Amino acid sequence: MTMPASETPLLEIQGLSVEFRARRAAPVQAVQDLSLTARAGECVVVLGESGSGKSVTAKAVMGLLEGNARTTAGSIRLDGADLLADPAAMRAARGRDMAMVFQDSLSALNPVQRVGDQIAEMFRVHQGLSKAEARTRAIELMRQVAIPDPERRARSYPHQISGGMRQRIVIAMAIALKPRLLIADEPTTALDVTVQKGILDLFRVLTEAGAGLVFITHDIGVAAEIADHIVVMYAGSVMETGPAREVLARPHHPYTRALLASVPRIERPGARTPIPGGLPDPADRPAGCLFAPRCPLATADCTATRPELESLEPGRAAACLRITEVQHVLAQ
Ligand SMILES: Nc1ncnc2c1ncn2[C@@H]1O[C@H](COP(=O)(O)OP(=O)(O)O)[C@@H](O)[C@H]1O
Ligand code: SF4
Ligand SMILES: [Mg+2]
Repeated sequence: MTMPASETPLLEIQGLSVEFRARRAAPVQAVQDLSLTARAGECVVVLGESGSGKSVTAKAVMGLLEGNARTTAGSIRLDGADLLADPAAMRAARGRDMAMVFQDSLSALNPVQRVGDQIAEMFRVHQGLSKAEARTRAIELMRQVAIPDPERRARSYPHQISGGMRQRIVIAMAIALKPRLLIADEPTTALDVTVQKGILDLFRVLTEAGAGLVFITHDIGVAAEIADHIVVMYAGSVMETGPAREVLARPHHPYTRALLASVPRIERPGARTPIPGGLPDPADRPAGCLFAPRCPLATADCTATRPELESLEPGRAAACLRITEVQHVLAQ
């Protein structure tokens, strides 16, 4: 969707780099020069193999990077305000304006507290509601995330409800304070396909109500279901970005093409082609294109020069030195 140039995006990440530093070890570059934009009412999917820096990016946005991780470059703006430059603004935004469903969020529920009380606590702590008011709001919220018989379920402990219901509780807690930006890190990965679908529908309702959603996944099927825009990440950097339908139907970058070819398709049973090799060691990243060691089109240039993310057509960009040749091959 084309937006007026003057409109400030809800979330704008520019040139973000995150490094892990441990004593006596080479620094690990988990994210490098990453840019990403998310708008209200839209879902941006960050797609990439495990280890490509998706969770680290999400935690950087929330200001929740752990111990030895540092943001070494870039800016993260929420409604234009630079959160990295202003830790107080970051703290204020967290919870109130932005919230996150963590990758391991199911284990983050307190096993010895009733789920209804865990949700109610959000309202008591952040909005100072009375116990009774907070409980009423918790039950309303459970109904909103499509938990059947919420009055009864509110009294359950996490282990007494299914994985799908637990994920709905976690999502309820994330949206309790009506954040305008929601980051969901692999929220459906642990769930079976039918349960997954219900959770994706729930996220769709949230974007339709105007929230901006950054949805992280390694699953192309899930991305195809929910994304308005796709950002393809590889080894800590963006390889390709654009409107979801276009990226999935006409991938430009050799990595995106390889990723799509690695997924089994109903219309092409048995045609799955796994990507050979693995991600580069983040402590020893290739000097040139990060995908060069695995790219079937790599030349000597590719191992010497790091391609920049370049705009190809409105709304689409890819980081590949041989993009013209790739498009030529695709056109055949
Ligand atoms: N605690 C950590 N210490 C050192 N390196 C880390 C740590 N967490 C993540 N990394 C590095 O950051 C990279 C990206 O991790 P992550 O964002 O979790 O990937 P993804 O979510 O895409 O699977 C990892 O490959 C790893 O090299
Ligand atoms: S720059 Fe070269 S190695 Fe990298 S994706 Fe493009 S063709 Fe492949
Ligand atoms: Mg992750």
